[in-house]
Amino acid sequence: MQEKIDKYTKEINELVKTTAGELETFRIKFLGTKGIIKDLFDEFKTVGAEEKRTFGKVLNQFKQMAEAKYNELKESLDTQQTGNTNEQDLTLPGTGFSIGSRHPLTLVRNEIIDIFKRLGFVVAEGPEIEDDWHNFSALNFPEEHPARDMQDTFFIKKNAGKDDIALRTHTSSVQVRMMENGKPPFRAIMPGRVYRNEAISARAHCFFHQVEGLYVDENVSFADLKQTLYHFVQELYGEGTKVRFRPSYFPFTEPSAEMDVSCSICKGDGCNMCKYSGWVEILGCGMVDPNVLENCGIDSKKYTGFAFGMGIERITNLKYVIRDLRLFSENDVRFLKQFQTEII
Ligand code: DAH
Repeated sequence: MQEKIDKYTKEINELVKTTAGELETFRIKFLGTKGIIKDLFDEFKTVGAEEKRTFGKVLNQFKQMAEAKYNELKESLDTQQTGNTNEQDLTLPGTGFSIGSRHPLTLVRNEIIDIFKRLGFVVAEGPEIEDDWHNFSALNFPEEHPARDMQDTFFIKKNAGKDDIALRTHTSSVQVRMMENGKPPFRAIMPGRVYRNEAISARAHCFFHQVEGLYVDENVSFADLKQTLYHFVQELYGEGTKVRFRPSYFPFTEPSAEMDVSCSICKGDGCNMCKYSGWVEILGCGMVDPNVLENCGIDSKKYTGFAFGMGIERITNLKYVIRDLRLFSENDVRFLKQFQTEII
């Protein structure tokens, strides 16, 4: 009898974890009405008085041990099933959380700034509320120029003349501030927000963003302008991007040009982004008009310079194939979270 008890004790001790089915088998085998313990008690009845004394205690202990084991196994099975456990499973993947992302216009602005910084340009900024002088007059806009018209400009104070105050219509005003307040050479880019009195639609907005560029020194030529912008485009859209300059007009540059790049979406084959021409205009540029240099107190006999201005929205639209300008200012998280970037 002792031998059997030892054998079963060992068997029970070896049980650590069971499935519900195994636990039931265990119960029937040891604790059931026809189980081992019942058999042992039946056998116990047949032994002599001497043995009864020794085995009575042993047998009772064995029975308690088997019942305790059963309860322990059952409990661990229950907690497993309800998941009610304080133990953490460190192998489970962590819960993700949103870290936000940079706005696409910020991404593209930073990229433009980085490219020009590598060419030695510094970053400058100016006010968004401007006077007539910095936004128009110093930039050689004739009195009757349509850009001064109420339809294009948000005036804050309008007295028809030099005292007018407006939301700047372009970042070219920062050129004037820079030249007025310093001495050549100037080599700067000027990013910022600009405002125009336009009805909001997919293609136009009452505010948008520009990056202005200015380089003034002795002997600066149109060739320098072309090479700088050519390099910029190769960096921004990749090697092999084609560039073309078309003659144009701006009051503050002479000669003036508009620059097109081969469409980065269809690679020049023609698509609805480039209106099937294979080219997209991305900026205006030219040699700083001598009148502008003189207006800012710079000797136009000694110094020459080039300037350019580009719209960040336009460049971003081409890069990410965005067809509606309104998306940039609606703050729809479904749109914004598509531009996940590492935020450092
Ligand atoms: N200011 C112009 C605009 O808003 C862009 C521009 C054109 C800037 C030619 C320049 C330039 O500096 O040289 O449309």
